[in-house]
Amino acid sequence: MTKGLRCQEGKRLILFWLTCIVFLGQMRENDCMGLSSILPKKFIQRLLRTRLVWRLSGLTYWTAVKATQGLFMSRSEALRVCRQRMESLVPYLSPNDRVLDFGCGIGGKAIAISDHVAEVVGVDINPWYIGQARRLARGRSNCHFQSYQGGSLPFSDDHFEVVYSWAVFERIPKTTVAGYVRDFYRVLKPGGLAAIYFLRYESSEAGFADLLGEEAYVFYRREEVDRLLADIGFVVQEYLAWPNAHVCLARKLTDGQKV
Ligand SMILES: C[S@@+](CC[C@H](N)C(=O)[O-])C[C@H]1O[C@@H](n2cnc3c(N)ncnc32)[C@H](O)[C@@H]1O
Repeated sequence: MTKGLRCQEGKRLILFWLTCIVFLGQMRENDCMGLSSILPKKFIQRLLRTRLVWRLSGLTYWTAVKATQGLFMSRSEALRVCRQRMESLVPYLSPNDRVLDFGCGIGGKAIAISDHVAEVVGVDINPWYIGQARRLARGRSNCHFQSYQGGSLPFSDDHFEVVYSWAVFERIPKTTVAGYVRDFYRVLKPGGLAAIYFLRYESSEAGFADLLGEEAYVFYRREEVDRLLADIGFVVQEYLAWPNAHVCLARKLTDGQKV
């Protein structure tokens, strides 16, 4: 066997084992069993993040860090991180608010928000995530999750005080996003608040897109976000400080108010 062939074989072997490790880690996250219950968590994390291992398997270090982020977190750690991430939205919430989380994923952010409001409803296009979110939120009577097929939201007009969406519009074409934001406006009560995360245009130049490739993401300039929301009738109030994203806070006007 030539040296080159042996090297390729080695790479494939490493890739195979890494896939096994990541898969077992994912199982652990879903509360089955996993490598992290056999080997110390810190050891696995360090191994996976070793530059050499990822270079040999043909992946970049940044990809390695992204791919292993969260894999070995316990539920309580994951929820603590979600609470921390959503802290800056909390001052805008009131105890009687009914809140919609659009594209809730496995529901960590919705659960974090449900500590501060009357009710949170999470919707997601992926039913598997909804199943996971329901498991994660078990025992919380004010946090509900429902599958959604896309298109018009399954809620009546003027239903929520707050609608938020995090890390969802970064993979949806801009024309489709405008339709969703229009529907946020419809389901919000007059005076209600929309908090929407748009990937910042400048992060396309900061190596953000290493993992999936830049073309997989949709980036926005701040002026574009302002225009999109204003065209629908929202009044943009402010932006939350957020790495890589414009997190826009915008109000639906109360009856009688003018832009
Ligand atoms: C990167 S995850 C973010 C999840 C969650 N918002 C968070 O911040 O952790 C993107 C989520 O958006 C959901 N999603 C994508 N397109 C959607 C759509 N058209 N309607 C509803 N959910 C969508 C995906 O299924 C996925 O759960």
